[in-house]
Amino acid sequence: MKFFIDTANLAQIQDAHDLGILDGVTTNPSLMAKEGISGKDNVMKHYKTICDIVGDGDVSAEVIATDFQGMVREGEELAELHPNIVVKIPMIQEGVKALKYFSDKGIRTNCTLVFSAGQALIAAKAGASYVSPFIGRLDDISTDGLDLIEQIRLIYDNYGYETEILAASVRHPMHIIKCAEIGADVMTGPLSAIVALMKHPLTDNGLAQFLADHAKAAK
Ligand code: G3P
Repeated sequence: MKFFIDTANLAQIQDAHDLGILDGVTTNPSLMAKEGISGKDNVMKHYKTICDIVGDGDVSAEVIATDFQGMVREGEELAELHPNIVVKIPMIQEGVKALKYFSDKGIRTNCTLVFSAGQALIAAKAGASYVSPFIGRLDDISTDGLDLIEQIRLIYDNYGYETEILAASVRHPMHIIKCAEIGADVMTGPLSAIVALMKHPLTDNGLAQFLADHAKAAK
């Protein structure tokens, strides 16, 4: 399972990268705004910096336009920025046309804001490289986001679609574990959820005991 971090915060991306288990980064306009990044030049520079930190991993950069021509224009500029950029396109009708356009041109895409199996099926048919079902936001409205991951896994496996399932809007470690059980190809979440996977009180207690015993024996 690939691990992406869902942030535009450079320090957190660096921390995740330093762990040695980071496979990529996803961003969105809200996450960029949260870091105070605005204006085309600054936005492009920020994406380039993220790509440099991540090294080999994919970096999703989202278009702002909502019309086909605008998405194509923005997406092509983003794709030219760095070979690891994946153009993030919203699941709207114009976006589907853009997904197909980019797929035909060999430019990789991440279809975002996906909340149903039907949307995921269309994204795969349009040739999206990744599909991003937002599981946390479904949970927020009392709909099980993990059920959607299961549905998409089944549908993609039925037909051999190569679109990778990128579980997004991941909020906590159990989301990650359940996504791994179901067979999501990728998860993207906050650093806190990734770090939480490593924690166990018995590990902490056991280590404290080992170190205490070692210190006692050394006296
Ligand atoms: O990757 C999508 C993600 O940024 C949405 O997460 O927590 O805002 O629902 P959240």
